[in-house]
Order: sequence, then structure tokens, then C-alpha cells
Amino acid sequence: MQLERLLHGQGFGTRKACRALVRAGRVTVNGEPCDDPFADFDPAGLTFTVDGEPWPYREKAYLLLNKPAGYECSQRPIHHPSVFSLLPEPLLNRGVQTVGRLDEDTTGLLLLSDDGQFIHRLSSPRHKVPKVYQVTAKHPVDAGQIDALLNGVVLRDEPGPLAALACEAVSQQVIHLTLAEGKYHQVKRMLAAVGNRVEALKRVAVGGLALPEDLPEGGWRWLGERELELLASRK
Ligand code: URA
Repeated sequence: MQLERLLHGQGFGTRKACRALVRAGRVTVNGEPCDDPFADFDPAGLTFTVDGEPWPYREKAYLLLNKPAGYECSQRPIHHPSVFSLLPEPLLNRGVQTVGRLDEDTTGLLLLSDDGQFIHRLSSPRHKVPKVYQVTAKHPVDAGQIDALLNGVVLRDEPGPLAALACEAVSQQVIHLTLAEGKYHQVKRMLAAVGNRVEALKRVAVGGLALPEDLPEGGWRWLGERELELLASRK
């Protein structure tokens, strides 16, 4: 693939802008400077740098972000900054989208991608990909509330009761709640339906993929093959 086209596809601007980047000597490929925008490279396994910053070639972008509180999962946020402001520009130019949404005050594991099928598979209710939330409740979560969450609660505007796949007490006021769906404010509405209230909400896993402990809030990373496999698994 010609370098100009390769950079364009990786989000570095228009073909013309990418040509100018290369001609200005700002690009290296596999460790060697390259100022010919039409030089041909096999993209598989290639790493290029732009202004010294390394970028492994990725046909599709699969990302994990540790969402901080105070960010909206929207391209056009209303009250708070957008989670997209936490990503570098080339990823935005590639058109990455969030896989579902977390509320402004929810923290934790948020996936993003420019692969429409991947986004659909993970967010469609038909696929029932489990999402695990760490819920800090206002009041102690008693056995009756846990039973009700597991047996199903009725929420306004939902056709049938919604039940958690799993609900484990971590401490008196903290539970891990696993849901198959991603309905609007689902955790908050389910906790309210059993007579409690969410004080803090953090998504800690999607499918078999847990939020990495070493990723700081606001940080993001590429997902590797192994992590993509874990996402598809149910554990
Ligand atoms: N459920 C909620 O109530 N909020 C979220 O952000 C995610 C799930």
C-alpha cells in the first residue's frame, strides 16, 4: 500500500495532508525515514512514526478507555466534555465510536471501535454480552434486594421484567451486578426499583474482559488479539 494512502486510512488527514507530512520528512516506516509518499509497503505488522510518535498499523481500531466521571459518551456533549476528547486526533479521524454508552457520572470500562460489526455484536441485546458493574449503593443491599434483582424487576417503559445475570455482594453497600442488556440508566433504575439508590457506578468487565488495574482513569489502550478473544467469551 502506498504510504500516503496508508497514513490517510490510519487517520492522519486527507491524502493531500498525508503527502505533505511525508514530504516534510515527518514520517518513518519500520525505523527508516521515508519522504516518498508513493513508496509501497506491506501494512501487515508495519510500525510508522509521525513526528517521532510510534503508530503500529491497525486495519481496524479496537480500544479500551477507562472512563472518568464528568465525561459524556457523545460526539456533541451538552454539559460536560466528551470522552472523545481523551483520544488522539488520528483515532477521531478514523471515526471510532463508543460501544454503547455510560452515563456522565459512570466510570470504568468503555470500548470504542471503527468496526461497525464489532460494535453491533457487542451492543445488540440479541447477543446478550454480559456487562459487570460495581455498584456502590446508598443503603445496605440486603438479601431481599439481591433476590429481586436476580428474579427480575419491572421498569417503566420496558415490556417485561429485567433480571440480572448475577449479583454478588462485595460489602454491605457494594455489589457486582451483571447485566445482559444495556438499557438506558438500567443499573440506576433497577436499584431504584428494589428500594435502593446508586451512589457510584463503575463498569468493571464486558464479556470476559476486565478493566485493567494499571490503566489510569482517562487512559486508553489498543486491545490485543487475546483481549478481543476475551471479549467474545462469557467468563
Ligand atoms: N446503567 C446505568 O444506570 N448507567 C450506566 O452508565 C450504565 C448502566
